[in-house]
Amino acid sequence: MLRRLHPDQPESFAFTPENRAWAEAQITRFPEGRQASAIIPLLWRAQEQEGWLTRPAIEHVADMLGMAYIRALEVATFYFMFQLAPVGSVAHIQICGTTPCMLCGAEKLVDVCKPRISKRPHALSDDGKFSWEEVECLGACSNAPMAQIGKDYYEDLTAERLEWILDELAAGRVPPPGPQNGRYASEPAGGLTSLTAHYDGRMAHNASVARAVAIGDTVKRIDGTEVPLSAPWLGKPKAPRAAAKSEPKPGAGIPADETGVTVQEAPAKAKAKPEARAKAAPEPATNPGVKPAMLEAARAGGPDDLKRISGVGPKLEALLNRLGVYHFDQIAAWGPGEIAWVDQNLEGFKGRVSRDGWVAQARDLAQGTQTETGA
Ligand code: FES
Repeated sequence: MLRRLHPDQPESFAFTPENRAWAEAQITRFPEGRQASAIIPLLWRAQEQEGWLTRPAIEHVADMLGMAYIRALEVATFYFMFQLAPVGSVAHIQICGTTPCMLCGAEKLVDVCKPRISKRPHALSDDGKFSWEEVECLGACSNAPMAQIGKDYYEDLTAERLEWILDELAAGRVPPPGPQNGRYASEPAGGLTSLTAHYDGRMAHNASVARAVAIGDTVKRIDGTEVPLSAPWLGKPKAPRAAAKSEPKPGAGIPADETGVTVQEAPAKAKAKPEARAKAAPEPATNPGVKPAMLEAARAGGPDDLKRISGVGPKLEALLNRLGVYHFDQIAAWGPGEIAWVDQNLEGFKGRVSRDGWVAQARDLAQGTQTETGA
């Protein structure tokens, strides 16, 4: 499939301070002269930050690694893990269409996506929440047919099961990934006939699914109250098409290959040091928000188990307690201002409240807690 840059591109890209620090640390893992080897993690982080991989982001990463833009573009356009166009704010569905999956029903999965999301791949659904594409073998052929959604694999799919998964995602819930037909992993469909001992006392999910469930960020979700982190462009006017930037160009004075020839002189702006250009790029506006009402300590009866919120682990729970957040109903009461404040003040976890839809989850959990206590 021909993979091209999207015609509508934002003006600029800059890593958030946290992501830039992370990216610079990645670069130090490689020996002097081999920094270009860090390109895939850096492009991936840029995509995670923006939701898709924009041209300014590819050029920014190339500048950080001292690479010609064309070399970075080659990587970005080769791997379909990189999304070159905006994707759905809730989920991007990658249906494997290679032979084993095709023989086991992948075409029926595509038939679910077409009427429900969009006739064409790489186009957003009417509400902007979903997009889909067909991809080549994802290496889970023994659980065909399958689809990658977000970072995880949904395997042993049927059209009906995919419909249900899309319903769940649209409702803000993330079904556990992995086999969807009752299989534990990749054992025979009729169950194990040998080496059965380790099945006694096994965990609820296989290791891969258990990890995904624990991390809880298979897809990025919104609860309707804020612009999703995964699709920040949805809240901005469309960037004008930049005719002058429609063709790839070499980086500032950086030859594209070992001949040392630079194909064209980079414009004066591009000759500035990468750091200078990064500084010149407009910083994303930060909303200081409104500090929510905090508690000195948990109420009588003890704190709620905030780890029940998908995306909150022991460290985040401890951080929330230090801030004065102990109960689901506190989080459930946050509006956009409070969400912005907490997002900014979660040191090391910035943006998690909106990214993982804590407020909607906390509302459900708070209701459950009241029901359990008879309140
Ligand atoms: S053919 Fe679909 S995962 Fe390999």
